[in-house]
Amino acid sequence: MKERVSVAVVGAGAAGLCALRHLALPGVSSVNLTATCFEQSPRVGGTWYYTEDIGTDKYGLPVHSSMYKHLRTNLPVECMAFPDYPFPKQQPSFVEHEVVLKYLEDYAHNFNLTKYIKFLTKVKKIRPVSDEGSKFKVNWEVTTCSVANPGVEQTQTFNAVLLCNGHYAKPLVPDIPGVNSFPGQVTHSHDYRRTDGCDGKVVVILGAASSGIDISLEMSAVAKQVYLSHNKPTLTTKLPDNLHQKPGIKRVDNSMIEFLDGSSVEADVLMFCTGYHYDYHFLDKDCGIVVHEERVTPLYKHLISSKYPSLGIVGICKQIVPFPMFDVQVRFFRSVLDGTCVLPSEADMNADTEQDFQLRLTSGLPQRHAHLMGDRQFEYNDQLARMANTQPLSGHYKQLYLATHLLRLDNVMEYKNRNFILDPTEVRVVK
Ligand SMILES: Cc1cc2nc3c(=O)[nH]c(=O)nc-3n(C[C@H](O)[C@H](O)[C@H](O)COP(=O)(O)OP(=O)(O)OC[C@H]3O[C@@H](n4cnc5c(N)ncnc54)[C@H](O)[C@@H]3O)c2cc1C
Ligand SMILES: NC(=O)c1ccc[n+]([C@@H]2O[C@H](COP(=O)([O-])OP(=O)(O)OC[C@H]3O[C@@H](n4cnc5c(N)ncnc54)[C@H](OP(=O)(O)O)[C@@H]3O)[C@@H](O)[C@H]2O)c1
Ligand SMILES: *[C@@H]1O[C@H](CO)[C@@H](O)[C@H](O)[C@H]1NC(C)=O
Ligand SMILES: *[C@@H]1O[C@H](CO)[C@@H](O)[C@H](O)[C@H]1NC(C)=O
Repeated sequence: MKERVSVAVVGAGAAGLCALRHLALPGVSSVNLTATCFEQSPRVGGTWYYTEDIGTDKYGLPVHSSMYKHLRTNLPVECMAFPDYPFPKQQPSFVEHEVVLKYLEDYAHNFNLTKYIKFLTKVKKIRPVSDEGSKFKVNWEVTTCSVANPGVEQTQTFNAVLLCNGHYAKPLVPDIPGVNSFPGQVTHSHDYRRTDGCDGKVVVILGAASSGIDISLEMSAVAKQVYLSHNKPTLTTKLPDNLHQKPGIKRVDNSMIEFLDGSSVEADVLMFCTGYHYDYHFLDKDCGIVVHEERVTPLYKHLISSKYPSLGIVGICKQIVPFPMFDVQVRFFRSVLDGTCVLPSEADMNADTEQDFQLRLTSGLPQRHAHLMGDRQFEYNDQLARMANTQPLSGHYKQLYLATHLLRLDNVMEYKNRNFILDPTEVRVVK
């Protein structure tokens, strides 16, 4: 009889499905891993499970998905796919969100993952309970409830917990002087579904990352004028004639929005595309996880609690190729659970984390970019794979990520119409 390690997985989006694929399936591992996944919604797919709802859903839960009606991926599917499960051939490289949901459903089906998922079950509380006899010195009490019947709670104990609850669901809304005097609509991209109500209007969008740029482009097709307000370097790509860049917002006075350079516009709609907060409200404070200015600590390799290494969080890194990174992170977590990877001491893990953080600060990044990856992600993925003694990611992910980045910088309006050909020797852009 092998040693048994039971894992609770929170969430059945891309990260949670990947966790089940590597933790729940009977494998060759030296320990007997078993996994149970809790998912509050009725389906797999997480943020790719599109809904017209905003605010709260029919169970009174905050709507999780941030997808909008006409969203297409900002990475080619050849780059998005998990390493062991390609997207079906015969489709464009940049696809609609429905295609990604279907892909995740197919992935779950192919690996027989659904049977491990408890749907419509929300994790309400997780807390460590000490157990000197167990491998990691603690076990985890996971309290869940049925979303249809929140009064009915259940508590189960697991040897490990892997959080795959996503981090694009709790909007970050900046505090802007005078915003309450704005008479028009004030929204966040989390609640954006389509351009309805913006025909002929003057729209100000704050934040020029993926959401801000993409939604500005959608808006510019119907609005009178769109002002994309941001503090990043000016975008040099071609933009629609009615889409103008402005610095960040200084203040709002009724319908007048004043920017940091002193210029101002009279606007009808103000939309924050300012990103999201990490949200682990269901972790008891004894779990030891702290979020401060969008930095989550104490996490070794942005993944594993150095205090309790049987607690992991998948996918908190930003500006990444998500699915493949999740795959490496999950395999790393598995290798810690089954003993293939022996972690350094808690003090050494914390020193490593601090060094990574200080390097970021010295290179000019603010604290809120503690988990920002960009070009750093490839070395990070390789390092995790080495430490876990598991297969590294194929080099085509980096090639495609960098190629897409250049196409986007060059022409943000057109890049999603390009297609890639991936063959074993080279990545080519066609059309
Ligand atoms: C608008 C938008 C566009 C994007 N476009 C792309 C793209 O083009 N390409 C790309 O690769 N990535 C894209 N991403 C990134 C995307 O976040 C990842 O692709 C990926 O889907 C994240 O998966 P996840 O499992 O970490 O989180 P999620 O997909 O958010 O899944 C988390 C799951 O956890 C569940 N959950 C949360 N809390 C609880 C709880 N307490 N109890 C039970 N269940 C819980 C949720 O219901 C959800 O199902 C986009 C993201 C957004 C928001
Ligand atoms: N497929 C697609 O086309 C598509 C579309 C939308 C979103 N997405 C994905 O969805 C995820 C979330 O993207 P996101 O754009 O919503 O969030 P995000 O990547 O976190 O970006 C938020 C942006 O808002 C800026 N910001 C925050 N507060 C601000 C303020 N007060 N003033 C000015 N700017 C401010 C941030 O600047 P700092 O960086 O300086 O903090 C950052 O640039 C990403 O994974 C993204 O790839 C994909
Ligand atoms: C693994 O654990 C499960 C649940 O306890 C048990 O049913 C199964 O027989 C075990 N498998 C092995 C190989 O020990
Ligand atoms: C999924 O289940 C089917 C039917 O039981 C089985 O034939 C198949 O091998 C399983 N797939 C995996 C990846 O375990």
